[in-house]
Order: sequence, then C-alpha cells, then structure tokens
Amino acid sequence: MKALVYHGAKDVRIDDKPKPEIKDKGDIILRVTSTALCGSDLHLYHGTVQGMEPGQTLGHEFMGIVEDTGSSVQEIKKGDRVVIPFNISCGNCWFCRHELWSQCDRSNPNGEVGAAYGYTQLLGGYDGGQAEFVRVPFANTGALKVPDAISSDEQVLFLSDILPTGYFGADIANVQPGDDVAVFGAGPVGYFSVISSFLRGAARVFCIDHWPTRLSKVKDLGAETINFDNEDPIEIIKKETKERGTICIDAVGYEAVGHMKAGSNNGNKGHDHSKVANPAYEPANPLQVINWMCQAARKYSTISIPGVYGSDYDKFPLGQLFNKELQIRLGQCPVKKYNEQLLHLIEVGRIDPKPLISHTMKLDEAPKAYDMFDKKEDVTKVVFKTGA
Ligand SMILES: NC(=O)c1ccc[n+]([C@@H]2O[C@H](COP(=O)([O-])OP(=O)(O)OC[C@H]3O[C@@H](n4cnc5c(N)ncnc54)[C@H](O)[C@@H]3O)[C@@H](O)[C@H]2O)c1
Ligand SMILES: [Zn+2]
Ligand SMILES: [Zn+2]
Repeated sequence: MKALVYHGAKDVRIDDKPKPEIKDKGDIILRVTSTALCGSDLHLYHGTVQGMEPGQTLGHEFMGIVEDTGSSVQEIKKGDRVVIPFNISCGNCWFCRHELWSQCDRSNPNGEVGAAYGYTQLLGGYDGGQAEFVRVPFANTGALKVPDAISSDEQVLFLSDILPTGYFGADIANVQPGDDVAVFGAGPVGYFSVISSFLRGAARVFCIDHWPTRLSKVKDLGAETINFDNEDPIEIIKKETKERGTICIDAVGYEAVGHMKAGSNNGNKGHDHSKVANPAYEPANPLQVINWMCQAARKYSTISIPGVYGSDYDKFPLGQLFNKELQIRLGQCPVKKYNEQLLHLIEVGRIDPKPLISHTMKLDEAPKAYDMFDKKEDVTKVVFKTGA
C-alpha cells in the first residue's frame, strides 16, 4: 500500500509498505478515505521533535471504512465509517477510567503522555494514517461512528484532532459568556478556537497572526484580526479592552515567530541547545506567544496552551504568572471528551468545518503538500484523498 513515510527533516516520501494486519484482538484495520495534514506534522517535518525515526508512517488525522476487525471488537463492524481520535486510549487503564484520554498509560507504557498515531517513538511509535490503510488499536474505545446523514468526509474529518483541540483550548481557558478572548495563531487550531470561544459565549474574539489568508478566514467567523507584522497585538488588546485584557489561547506552539529577539531576556535564553533535535531548524522565538499572553491576559484568568511545547523550551515568565495569579493549562487534547458533542453540533449545522479547507489533494502529492503547508501563504488546511 501507499504510505507517507518520514525519512528525515524535510524529507517525506510516498513509499510502498506492507498493508497492516490485525495484531491484537482489539484492533481494526481501517481503509483510509480522507486524512489531513496538521501543524503538528510540521514539527516533525522540521526535524525538531525528539524520538522521530525514519520509517514511521506519518499522519494522525484520518477517517475511513472498517476493513477488518479483531475478535473482541464489538462496537464497530466491517463496513462502518468511522473517524479516529489522534490519541490512542485503551479504555481500561487508570487514566482512561478517569476519562483522561490523552494520558493513557497502556497505549504508551514508556511515555509521560499518551500515545498518538504517526508521532515518534516517544508517543508509542504507531504508524499513522497518511496511508491507504492503518491499524487502529483499542478500536472499541477510539472509533467514532459517522451518522449516515453526513455524507461528506470533510464535515467530520477534523473531529480526529483540530476541532476538539480548538474546543479544548477554549474549555481549559474556561471561556465564559461575555468574556473577551485572544486567540494567538490563525491556523487550523486557532480557527476552531475562535469558533469554540464564540460557541461558549465570548463577547469579542481577537485573533493574531501574520498571514492575510488565515486572518481573513477567522474574520469570516467574526474575529477581530491583528496582523503582528504591522501592529502590536498587546497595545491593541489593551486599548480595546480598556486595559482589562483577555482570556488567552496559544494556538501556535514553540515554532512561533515574532519580534522578540531570540536570546533576549524574554526569549529563549537558558534554552538548552544540546537538546534540540535539529539545531539547523531551531525555532525563532519559542516563547514569543507565551510572553505576549502574559501581557495580554486578564488578571486571575487561565492561560490556555493547546499549541505544542517540548521540554527543552522551559524558560518561563514566572514573575508575571505569579503576580497576575494566572493559571496555565496545557497539554494534549483528550479528543474523546469532546468529539461526540462536537459531532452533534456539526449534524445540526451549528459548526461547519469545511470553509477551513483550502486544498484537497491526492495522497501521492503529500510531499509537495508538506512543503506548501510549511510555507503557509494561501494554504490553510490540506485534506488528502487516498483513492484506495
Ligand atoms: N494540544 C494538542 O492536542 C494539539 C493538537 C493539534 C495541534 N496542536 C498544536 O497546535 C499548534 C497549531 O496547530 P496548527 O495546525 O494550527 O498549526 P499551523 O502551523 O498551521 O498554524 C500556526 C499559526 O501560528 C502562526 N504564528 C506563528 N507565530 C505566531 C505568533 N508569534 N503570534 C501569532 N501567531 C503566530 C503561524 O503564522 C500559523 O498561521 C501547533 O503547535 C500544533 O502542534 C496541538
Ligand atoms: Zn493534528
Ligand atoms: Zn488507557
């Protein structure tokens, strides 16, 4: 079968790989119909994530038709159409029993976080879904059936990650009716954080980025956009909120760019260069957004960080966090906590994920798509069709 395989930084290729087989009685084999490219894949593409080994199939956002089921799979049958959360949850360990789906310690026995598809040995080493077929373990827990009434994959594909992750961003920030919110990053996660903040009753949502196409998409959702190349986001947020500040969501992560000089007091001084997986691609300003959020945040609010950080970007503005009595919540989104309710919002037409998609391409074109998505410009979200 065809699969998009990691060979090294900026080197991903369509390879011919053996079709996966049932290994455990809880597995299903999924024939992938649609799969998407995520900002998290770019961290791998840049070679900046520890533990990524050549040979692993990429992709953690996918859906498809069940091709084969293990003997203990009861919830799902051959021929069902399902969408799969990017995190792999066993359903039975202490964390899964407490509905902390992103921290399953059976799917990833050696990790300090739960496993995910197509995302390094540290996250379990599972092959991903940017392929014609993928093995889905613990399918009784993970697979979400798509109602017959939803005919297009594009309506539900993002339930695998970015829609729940955007909602998670607003949830852990505890966005309440009447709040003003700032979403840093107008990429796919930022897009759904804007939608989710409004769903939860935000009065105003500011969204900060520097790509005009991305900013115009969140503007269509009702966000007030700030292009940080031309304007100072902190100045605008303070002025617009009469100094009160906003609830802040970081939908960017450690590959942030910005105007803070790397190595400055607010920057990545103290950052351990020896730990960077690919020093040639060292991020420009890993703490830019964290620092902006600490300045923009309303006092006593919770800073929410769905954007990804690695343990080697650890210098923190602790004084500001302490003085303003901020809370920080962050981590891998527990997709299963939200995906059913979000599916219902899609079903009744309250959420329409489709306008985010800028490109639909064949899986064969994935290497080109990585390069395009990396350059951003007019690319907001790429969906691959396998044609399998
Ligand atoms: N926590 C989770 O479970 C989870 C799930 C999915 C994605 N993520 C992470 O969320 C982040 C965003 O994902 P995405 O798919 O939207 O990625 P993306 O790369 O498409 O978008 C990131 C956006 O941030 C913008 N940006 C860069 N520096 C900025 C700054 N200083 N201020 C404001 N915007 C800035 C970029 O221009 C870009 O548009 C990534 O770090 C990704 O790994 C986390
Ligand atoms: Zn993703
Ligand atoms: Zn578990």
